[in-house]
Amino acid sequence: MEQRPQAVPAQREAWSGRTVFILAAIGSAVGLGNIWRFPYIAYENGGGAFIVPYLIALLSAGIPLLFLDYAIGHKFRGSPPLAFRRLSRPAEALGWWQVGICFVIAVYYAVIIAWAARYAIFSFSEAWGDDPASFFASDFLQQDGESTFGLDFVPGVVIPLLLVWIGVIAILAFGVQKGIGSVTKYFVPLLIVLFAILVVRALFLDGAGQGLDAFFTPNWSALTDSGVWIAAYGQIFFSLSVAFGIMITYSSYLGRRTNLTGSGLVVAFSNSSFEILAGIGVFAVLGYMAQATGVPVAEVVESGIGLAFIAFPAIISAMPGGPVFGVAFFGALVFAGFTSLISIVQVVVAAVQEKSGLSRGAAVLTVGGSAAVLSLLLFPTATGLNVLDIVDNFANNIGIVGVALVALVTVGLILRRLSDLQEHLNQVSSFKVGIAWRVFVGVITPVVLAYMLIDQIVQRIGDGYGGLPTGLVVTFGWGVQALVVIAAIVLTFLPWRGSVDELPAETDSKGNA
Ligand code: ALA
Repeated sequence: MEQRPQAVPAQREAWSGRTVFILAAIGSAVGLGNIWRFPYIAYENGGGAFIVPYLIALLSAGIPLLFLDYAIGHKFRGSPPLAFRRLSRPAEALGWWQVGICFVIAVYYAVIIAWAARYAIFSFSEAWGDDPASFFASDFLQQDGESTFGLDFVPGVVIPLLLVWIGVIAILAFGVQKGIGSVTKYFVPLLIVLFAILVVRALFLDGAGQGLDAFFTPNWSALTDSGVWIAAYGQIFFSLSVAFGIMITYSSYLGRRTNLTGSGLVVAFSNSSFEILAGIGVFAVLGYMAQATGVPVAEVVESGIGLAFIAFPAIISAMPGGPVFGVAFFGALVFAGFTSLISIVQVVVAAVQEKSGLSRGAAVLTVGGSAAVLSLLLFPTATGLNVLDIVDNFANNIGIVGVALVALVTVGLILRRLSDLQEHLNQVSSFKVGIAWRVFVGVITPVVLAYMLIDQIVQRIGDGYGGLPTGLVVTFGWGVQALVVIAAIVLTFLPWRGSVDELPAETDSKGNA
């Protein structure tokens, strides 16, 4: 008897409906990038004036690329390697490149969620005392300023990190609908309510207006600075979870007749609204601190990690009802981060499952287990903070930008498949896309991405990164990104278990219903 091809399960997993998909996509988009990255990036890059490049980046790149990801995943019904392979065989490597980037991001993203979980507990007693900066680096993370790399473990991080990974593995083992769908159905509304309460509370703090003034006062001259535009485009890609495989994977579980562009607009505008809300909340709180300590807002602003784990603890100690605010803030970070993390790991799980023919459980254990081991080995150590900083910066500014550029050039210019994908989007969607979409995806965004990539590479080669030792930057920055590309090529050459070139039974050869 003929064996059924194993790489394509007879019945592909599916969302129970469009609402679950939209919630899961919002859960993936709204993450650490919205809460701690956006407020600082906006402030640093022109404040109120940043809204102009941000909206242009959203409309010209974020939404068009989100549609492109949906079209590829939905038409070719697979995680990135399978979907790209069905588009054109050699393009499978692009899919593995995206999978590799997801794997790298997952390995450190989980660590930040673990820190936030620990800080939710610290908030009860304001464990950081009078000096949150040294508490974070010395007491909590036990960073060794002398050594550049070592494996001295910090138990206070190992335990929450282990719990995060157990949670991810358990949820993904339940599958797309029962696992991811059920969790996001509760977590995303909970996050929205929690965050709305936080922002309203923040707006009633003394000095909130001063913070909002600092956030929204436009510095129009920033618009002539190319760095500001690069920051806007970079923020949109990471924040919307586009161009690194997540939306390709999530849309592959949608029913054939699903309004793709309509869903995309809901997801994109929800994500940006959340991001702007986070900016308002964070700056209201910073305004309070500035007023309380009698310094300008500029002096209390910190970037990413410093904002959440140094500036906020100081503010929590100073404000009335601080512990409750702290638990809610760090709780929101955990919820937001967790729904993003499961989407990132799902990309790798689906890719491994499809290529190897492993069962879902085995794929989840293999992928989740190896990511957990690496995460536990590299980051909860006395040198983990610098390593995390480098891996994060290179994954975002070189990895995602690089793969997005090569994918757009391949799909748009080499394979010339944009009309085909446009037709697919328009067949099922309410909001029709036209030539403007093809121009954004095929011309404008690739030009912007090429500029970004060259700028970043020149900067990193010239100045290294953040004054950190060259060996560390070469290993965890360039080295990790190079390894991802090499692994992508090797994985492309490995054989598929079973036939993969046919689409699942319910579609015709072009992928249409
Ligand atoms: N989109 C996710 C975030 O913003 C990855 O953190």
